[in-house]
Order: sequence, then C-alpha cells, then structure tokens
Amino acid sequence: ADALHLEFLDHAIQIARTTGAKIKTAFHSRSSLHIDLKNDNDADLVTQVDRAVEKEIFTYLRSKYPSHAFVGEEGTSESGVAATGISSNSDTPTWVVDPVDGTTNFVHGFPFVAVSIAVVVHGVPIVGVVFNPIMDEMFTAVRNGGAFLNDVALPTPPVRPLASLASALVASEYGSDRGADVLDAKFAALRDVVGSPARGVRSLGSAALTMCYVARGALDAYWEAGVHAWDVAAAAVVLREAGGSVGNWVAPSKVEHGKHEAYDICARNVVCVRQTQLPEQGPAIMAT
Ligand code: IPD
Repeated sequence: ADALHLEFLDHAIQIARTTGAKIKTAFHSRSSLHIDLKNDNDADLVTQVDRAVEKEIFTYLRSKYPSHAFVGEEGTSESGVAATGISSNSDTPTWVVDPVDGTTNFVHGFPFVAVSIAVVVHGVPIVGVVFNPIMDEMFTAVRNGGAFLNDVALPTPPVRPLASLASALVASEYGSDRGADVLDAKFAALRDVVGSPARGVRSLGSAALTMCYVARGALDAYWEAGVHAWDVAAAAVVLREAGGSVGNWVAPSKVEHGKHEAYDICARNVVCVRQTQLPEQGPAIMAT
C-alpha cells in the first residue's frame, strides 16, 4: 500500500475513534436527541449528533489536509463539493464522510450505527474506515493493503462465483423513497430473491456496515437502490480488499453479458458479493 494512503488511514481511524466515543455516549442517553426529518420524510432522519460529528471530522481533516476536498452527508463541508460532483478526473483527494450511517438505528437504539470515512481519488475509493462504536467494530482498508476488523485481517473469500442463493444469507433495504415505482422495482427484486428461495434475508439499516458484513463473510450478498456515495465509499474499499466484489445494480437488459463497469459510487445503487465475481445481472440473476 502507498505510504500516503496509510497516513490518510491513520487520520481517518483517529477521528473515527474520537467521534465514535461521542456517538456511543449519545446512543446510550438518547433522551436529549433533537430529531429532524429530511424533506419532511419520516424515514429520513438527522440529529444534532450527525451534524456535530460531521463538523468535527471535517475540522480535523481540514487541519491536516487543507487542499483536499470534503463531501459529507449533512452538507457541513464548506468546500462546496456536492456528492454527485466527486470528480473522476480530479487529482485532489476527496474525503467522503457519513458521520452516522444508520441514523434511524441510532435514534431507535438499534446498535448498527457507524462512522464512515473514505478517501476517493479519480472517483475511486482508496481508503476506507467504517467504525461501529456501539459494538466496538473497526473495519479498515487501504487499496492493495488488505482489509481488517479490529486489526485482524478479514478471511479470504471463496473464488467461485455465488452460484445459488439456496445457501446464502443476503441483505437489502427498503430505503427512504417510498414512491410506488421505486417500491415496485424493489419488491420485484426482493420477490425473486426470497422466492428463489434464498436461505435468509436481512436489513441491518446501515449500508456501510452491511457491506462490511459481506466482507467479513457474515452475509453473502447485498443490493440496494437509493444509497449515496457517503454510505458506500469506505465500505467498498473494505469489501474489495477482503476479496469481495462491488458493482452497480443495473437493469438486466442493460448489462452486457458478464460485464460490469467500474463501480460508480455516485450512481445511487450497489450490488455486492463476498466472492471475487459479481453475478452477471444483479439480484435477479442471483435468484436463477
Ligand atoms: C442510510 C442507511 C440505510 C440505507 C440508506 C442510507 P443514513 O444512511 O445506510 O441502511 O438503506 O440508503 O441512506 O441516512 O442512516 O446515513
């Protein structure tokens, strides 16, 4: 791994631990949480903890790397870089941060809550830290440097593709967009997978942790439409470095046989498996 990337990793770990301790304290004393709805949506929440943590992370990172770009879920970055504008042709490292991934879990006391910090260069995530301070699980990875859970290397996955869902534990989410068209597409894919039949289906409520659970081998596959770059960027590094695969979930008709483009973290969707190969056409093909 590149020495500079390892330095980025050290800073990401340090600030994830510092802010994670505050998230843990707030998690255990939730009575003082101020919960706001985003876009008037009961399924899309933000609290004062999300905002304060994001601000603290950016203040720390900007003091170390004033020339870098910063993108966060809560928009507290002053760099003016929108998540959709994480440029694939810029040399400037961009820190992509979700201060509390799993905000609904956080509000309800369900312990799948994580700080997610990634460094993205040329549109590709190269450093990833996903820290669950409630369960004290720190997932870390740097491109070409392996993936670790609490400093122990994650096990290497099987090389064969995921052949069948019959022995697979898979995960997906319903997301915050409950429009009829969106739900129809999601339930059609879910129906295929559940009916295949997959052995089990889970929804953890944190995209970053779900991908890390694929990386550690506790889940076999995960797909979702609606995720943002800050939900997936850090965990994509962990998963790839653990030997897994991540790609975009596209309509089967749009996939050239066996071909997946490089994963676009800004495309608002994800499909991933623990194996070294993605299924050819996302969840639908996994069910066949
Ligand atoms: C959400 C979580 C959730 C996923 C959503 C994300 P947030 O992130 O990762 O699991 O289903 O798509 O937006 O809002 O809790 O940071």
